[in-house]
Amino acid sequence: MKRTCNATDLDTYSVGQEVVLNGWVDSRRDHGGLIFIDLRDRSGIIQLVFSPEVAIEAFHLAESVRSEYVVASRGKVSLRPEATENPNLKTGKIEIYVEKMQVLNTAKTPPFYIEDNIDVDENLRLKYRYLDLRRPEMRSNLMLRHRVVKTMRDFLDSRAFVEIETPILMKSTPEGARDYLVPSRVHPGKFFALPQSPQIFKQILMVAGMEKYFQIARCFRDEDLRADRQPEFTQLDMEMSFIDEGDIMALVEAMIRDVFAEAKGQELTLPFARLPYDEAMQKYGNDKPDLRFGLEIVELTGLLKDTEFKVFASAVQSGGVVRALNAKGCGSFTRKEIDALGALAVENGAKGMAWIVVGENELRSPITKFLSEEQVNGILQALQAEPGDLLLFAADQAAIAARVLGNLRLELGRRLQLIDENALSFVWVVDFPLLEYDDEEKRFVAMHHMFTAPRTEDIGLLDSDPALVKARAYDLVLNGTEIGGGSIRIHQRELQEKMFALVGMSNEEANGKFGYMLEAFEYGTPPHGGIAFGIDRLLMIIAGRHSIRDVIAFPKTQSAACPMTEAPSEVALKQLRELYIKIKEK
Ligand code: AMO
Ligand code: AMP
Repeated sequence: MKRTCNATDLDTYSVGQEVVLNGWVDSRRDHGGLIFIDLRDRSGIIQLVFSPEVAIEAFHLAESVRSEYVVASRGKVSLRPEATENPNLKTGKIEIYVEKMQVLNTAKTPPFYIEDNIDVDENLRLKYRYLDLRRPEMRSNLMLRHRVVKTMRDFLDSRAFVEIETPILMKSTPEGARDYLVPSRVHPGKFFALPQSPQIFKQILMVAGMEKYFQIARCFRDEDLRADRQPEFTQLDMEMSFIDEGDIMALVEAMIRDVFAEAKGQELTLPFARLPYDEAMQKYGNDKPDLRFGLEIVELTGLLKDTEFKVFASAVQSGGVVRALNAKGCGSFTRKEIDALGALAVENGAKGMAWIVVGENELRSPITKFLSEEQVNGILQALQAEPGDLLLFAADQAAIAARVLGNLRLELGRRLQLIDENALSFVWVVDFPLLEYDDEEKRFVAMHHMFTAPRTEDIGLLDSDPALVKARAYDLVLNGTEIGGGSIRIHQRELQEKMFALVGMSNEEANGKFGYMLEAFEYGTPPHGGIAFGIDRLLMIIAGRHSIRDVIAFPKTQSAACPMTEAPSEVALKQLRELYIKIKEK
C-alpha cells in the first residue's frame, strides 16, 4: 500500500487509473449507503468513496476511522456524478472508489480544527504546532518560504555569490540589542554570544578575498518582541567587494523581482523609488514610510513662527517645528473621536493636539482665535483644506512631531481604509544620518551600525559637527515594514577607530572588542559593502500575514518561549556545576 501519487496529481485525465494514496483523514461523511472521506496529503485534498458493493471490508473500516487517522487507500479514479462536483477543490471533479484501505495509525481528537481561518489562542497553536502546520494555510506558508529562499539562492548563485557559514558561537559585542549568552565549560566564567548578525564575519570574508558572499543566516537578539520581531530570525545576508551603493541596490532589485515573479507571479517595476531620510521623516513621520497611501504631513514652521499662539511660537523658539495633517473628509468626526486622536498623539509624546474642522462657511477649532486671518488662510492653503476636512497639528521637537503625526497618519490610513491591501510599495530610504544622539546614554550611537561608512564629502564634519554627517546606508522598505538594511562599510583602520571614538568608546575598549578587526583592516582590505534582508518579514508580506510567526515553522511566543518544548527550561544542577554557574535565589 505504498503511495503511487499525491492527491493533487490526479485530475480528469486520471479517470480509470488504479492508484494508492497515503495521507490523513481530513473529514468523514457517512451517508448510510455510502461513506465519503476527504483524504489530505501535503499536496491537498481528494475525496475517497466507500461503497459496500465495491468493497465491504473497506466500507466497514471506513465506518470506524476518525479525523486525523493516517490511512493508505487503493482504488480507481472516477468522474464525480454531475452536480456533486466541488469547485473549491483542485480535485473536485473526481473521486476514488476505494477497494482496499489500511489504517497506518490512529489519532486522538485534535484540540482545534485542522482548517484555515480558525479562531484559536496562538499559544495552543504553538503547543500543538505539528497540528497547526497541517492546516493548509500554514503548510502553504512553509512551501512558499522554501520557494522564496530557493529563488534567492539560485539568483545569487547565478551572480557568482558563494554561500559561506559563519559561527553561531561568537564573541559578545553588545551594541543594539542584548546578546544571548552561552557559557563556556572549557573556559569557566567566560561566555560566547549568539550572533545578532554575521556582520563582522562577512566583512572579514571580504578581507579574505571572497568578494561575493551570502548566507541564509540565523540571528539572535534579546529584545522586546512585536508582531514583526522574533528573538531568533533569519536574514539573507550579503556582502560584496569593489562596489558602491548603486551596485547593491540594482542587484537587490533584480533579486526581489525574481522573488515576486516566482512567489506571486507578479511583475515589479524597477527601479524602486528612493527617498531621503529627512524627507521620509518630514512627510511621513517615519523612516519606514508606508507609501501605499498619501496623507502627507505638511511643514508649517515657517508660516507660524511668529504667531501669537504661545504653544506654536514657543515650540518654534526652542528649535522645534509645527506640522500638520489634513484628515480628508473627517470634519464630521465627533468631539469624542477627535479627543481619541488627541489621546493617541499624547501616547506618542505630544503635549496636545490642536485641530481645525473646516466647515462649509466657518471653522471650528480651539486655536483659530489665537491665529491671524493670514495665518489661518496660509494653513488652509498649505493643507489644501476643503469643507469637510479635519486638520491636526503637532508643535514640538522635530523627532516628536514626526512620531506623533506619523502615527496619526497610520491610524487614519487604516481607519479611513486608504490602504490598498494588494498594493506593493517598495522604497529605498537613503541619506540616513551616520549618528544619532542618545539622550539616556548621553552620547552618539550609530544609526545603522558602527561599521557603516560616512559619505566621503562629509568626512570633514566628523570632527566639527558629527550630527550632520550622512551615512552611506540604505534601507529597503515594503508597505511600511523595513525588510532590509545595509551600507557601504568603513575599510580603513583610522576611520574605523575614529568611529569607535565618536560613539564614546575608549581606545582600550575598541581594541578589546574589535582589535582583530582593526588589525585585519591593515592587511589589504578592499572597499566593500552589503545588505541583509529579514526573510521572515519579507515572507510575512508576500504571504499576506500580519505576524512573522505565521511564516516560521517553530517561532517563539511574544514572551520569547516555545510552548511545545517548554523552552527555556531549568537545567540539572550537574550541568550548572560543570559551567561554574550558580543560580541566585530571587
Ligand atoms: P539590521 O539590524 O537592519 O541589519 O537587520 C536586517 C534586517 O533583519 C530584519 N530584522 C528582524 N526580523 C525579525 N525579527 C527581528 N528581531 C529582526 N531584527 C531585524 C529586518 C532588518 O531590515 N548586519 C546588518 C546588515 C548589514 O549592514 O549588512 C543588520 O543586521 O528586516
Ligand atoms: P491650550 O492653550 O494649552 O489649551 O491648547 C490649545 C490647543 O492646542 C489644544 O487643542 C491643545 O490640545 C493644543 N496643543 C497643546 N500643545 C500642543 C502641541 N505641542 N502641539 C499641538 N497642539 C498642542
